[in-house]
Amino acid sequence: MSQPGQLWGGRFQGGLDPAFAEFQRSLPQDHVLGFADLEVNLAWSEALAAAGLFTADELARVRAAIEDLAAHWAEHGVPADDAAEDVHSLVERELVARCGDLGKRIHTGRSRNDQVATDLRLYLRERIAGLLEGIQDLCAALVGKAGAHAGDPMPGYTHLQRAQPITIGHHALAHVEALARDRQRLLDALSRMDQCPLGSGALAGTTVPVDRAALAAQLGFGGGPCRNSLDATAARDHLCELLFACAMATTHLSRLAEDYVFFATQEARFLHFGDAVSTGSSLMPQKRNPDAMELVRGKAARVQGALLAMLGTIKGLPLAYNRDLQTDKETLLPALAETEACLHVAALAVQHASFDVARCAAEAGKGYQNATDLADLLVAQGVPFRDAHALAGAAVNRAVELGVELQDLPPGERQRLLPQLRGDLTRELSVSAVLARRAATGGTAPARVRAEVERWQRQLTAWAVGGEDPGSDGAGEAR
Ligand code: ARG
Repeated sequence: MSQPGQLWGGRFQGGLDPAFAEFQRSLPQDHVLGFADLEVNLAWSEALAAAGLFTADELARVRAAIEDLAAHWAEHGVPADDAAEDVHSLVERELVARCGDLGKRIHTGRSRNDQVATDLRLYLRERIAGLLEGIQDLCAALVGKAGAHAGDPMPGYTHLQRAQPITIGHHALAHVEALARDRQRLLDALSRMDQCPLGSGALAGTTVPVDRAALAAQLGFGGGPCRNSLDATAARDHLCELLFACAMATTHLSRLAEDYVFFATQEARFLHFGDAVSTGSSLMPQKRNPDAMELVRGKAARVQGALLAMLGTIKGLPLAYNRDLQTDKETLLPALAETEACLHVAALAVQHASFDVARCAAEAGKGYQNATDLADLLVAQGVPFRDAHALAGAAVNRAVELGVELQDLPPGERQRLLPQLRGDLTRELSVSAVLARRAATGGTAPARVRAEVERWQRQLTAWAVGGEDPGSDGAGEAR
């Protein structure tokens, strides 16, 4: 006893228990596939016509019905609150309403299993494009920050202990490097969903003699048709891959967020978040909290959870389609939205973060961050590095006792502790000298950072016009 608009009631007598009926519906999630489903319906109808199952006139009527529904949805949106079981049922009902029995014939040789697999791949192309844009915008904000502060020093940390001075620009570009890899991972995931499942039937292949290569080309799949109908309808590894790319990107964002939250503490005071990305306390009137970056840091956990949920859904699942797979969209779609939002808010937070350049520079010169360079100066005088390390360590101990920086050790102490040392320590151990020494590829020297900023600016331009790596940097090195 088939319900109106239900696609499968032939052998059933009773109706569904209302609780189960609601439980098994997917329209609240899969309505977002509406336009992709129309594209798939049109391509399949054309394939049926090419195979002789629709006349030219019938195909024209089907096409008109699809176009009419698309125009209606373009104006009103795809309804999420319709009673239909899923988006495929909704589309079929709407097409039958527009072209009668012709609408019922579209499902010839097709299954919702190959249909939903195809819909989702089409839909994800656009979502991935949005994610790529989000990454590029955040990279642009960070490259902008790096350009403004390519030569401005700040303390660099390991173990959250001051280690060696870096430039603010170098720090910003470190995060750009990670995000660029995330971008690459998204493109990679996209490349592995570039095969067309449509024409695989429910599991065993279609009985209609369709030209699947033409169908794949029509739907823009560069990799042609999926080669095995069981795999085509059962595979969801591309969703895991996409979720990994999202989980990795949001995890990277959480590290950026944590860096900036720390930089904004009263203990560090390296940067100040503008009002646009800060919040206050309902109780403590003086508070100014970095909530934007804290939420970015926190939400990464939910995207990680989605990756594990998707892997768990697939684990041990027999081939081919099982209804478990319907939950893929419930897992995937919120994670994509969360990732997009985190990218956007992180970019805002970077844009609204202003560095206190004077304080950063002053702090870069404190806490013996030049001790490695002192050891290197001894090495230049012929002292083996291991001995130089010990001598510089002893000098640090004495400087701590006296409450001075290394270059300000009294002449007698310097003579006693570092007798081999020549040269003007004030100059040699200055922050600018320490930075300038690190001019090899990958280093924090201002000139090197400026060259990297220029390279990234070229890269951003290439991305914006849809291109990839523009090649070598100013020094002629391949990246
Ligand atoms: N709504 C389902 C999904 O998203 C597609 C329908 C397949 N249903 C089925 N009983 N084979 O996975």
